[in-house]
Amino acid sequence: MSEPSLRTNFVYDEWMEAQQLPIYRGHFVPDMRTIKLGRWEQRGCDAAFVQLSGQEGVSEARISEVPPGETLPPYQLAVDEMIYVISGSGATNVWPNGERPDDAHQFEWSDKALFLIPGNHYRRFSNLAGDRPVRLLHYTYLPLAMSIVPDPDFFFDNPYRPKPAEASVFSDAKLITGGQGLRWISGRKGDVAYWYGNFFPDMSAWSRLDSNAARGAGGRSVRIQFANSDMSCHMSVFDAMTYKKAHRHGPGRVIVIPNGEGYSTLWLEGQQPYVVPWQEAALFVPPDRWFHQHFNLGAEPARYLALHPPMQFHGYAEREEDRKRDQIEYPDERPEVRERFERELAKRGLRSVMPEEAYASSKDAWAAS
Ligand SMILES: [Fe+2]
Repeated sequence: MSEPSLRTNFVYDEWMEAQQLPIYRGHFVPDMRTIKLGRWEQRGCDAAFVQLSGQEGVSEARISEVPPGETLPPYQLAVDEMIYVISGSGATNVWPNGERPDDAHQFEWSDKALFLIPGNHYRRFSNLAGDRPVRLLHYTYLPLAMSIVPDPDFFFDNPYRPKPAEASVFSDAKLITGGQGLRWISGRKGDVAYWYGNFFPDMSAWSRLDSNAARGAGGRSVRIQFANSDMSCHMSVFDAMTYKKAHRHGPGRVIVIPNGEGYSTLWLEGQQPYVVPWQEAALFVPPDRWFHQHFNLGAEPARYLALHPPMQFHGYAEREEDRKRDQIEYPDERPEVRERFERELAKRGLRSVMPEEAYASSKDAWAAS
């Protein structure tokens, strides 16, 4: 029997620290393409962990690199893994535990693709370009999972043979209409549209967007539900020289910027905001119940991809009855919000195109458009 002790750390954190890789903490990573990685002998690649304030115990973010022309050793993982291609082009092979690698599904991808590898499958990443490295962002619920099964081997060396994933989920995301869920505009339950599949080729060019007028700035969003998985995400696009309403929700949500230029503010109610500057390949996390607000300083639409934590952690900001508590309408925000935005735009020779009506009434100025 082992020595008695009280637990003080998450099992996942102990495992992460034992890998002896760089761990990025704080509120944001300015550019995932250039941050320093360390050697991860066990996986045969360079990698780093990202555990920003608000992710602890909920979601894992990890960056790995595949050198030009190389294929990394395959690995298995018992939980679903979402992967965003930060840069580069390559291919993934996927096969269930216990099957032969030569029967693997293969699909190719390039910059800003998003895909999901089902749990209990092997995955093998290859860089198909000879001249530039591939960088991948991996997102999982391992911290939560390891709190439930506190044995890392269960997740990385598990003989369970799952039902194999169907090849079709890696090739054609489908638009589903009439699904039951919370509507973004009204906050009420009803029919919603979302994309369903495991492979989305280019999140910077995705144009099949729904409207999310309730959050202001003429925003458009697409919801993505991965096939046979509890994992989901959404991408929002909002206009040049505008900003969205502040809102708050639960922890563990990782935000990635496929393209655009701007900043976000993060703050705990009653405290001064923390400013996160962003551009392509930035990553940040709004901590649990901290308000956050996104500002587009560019002359083009900006977009962000929000990787969702498990549903238990979504918070309540999407429900109409909680919106007053968890979303700040433009007329109710502090004057400094608008002033900072206009000042930052002026530094770039740009001016805000926020309609004056937005500040006069909490009825959305874009709602009719
Ligand atoms: Fe948010």
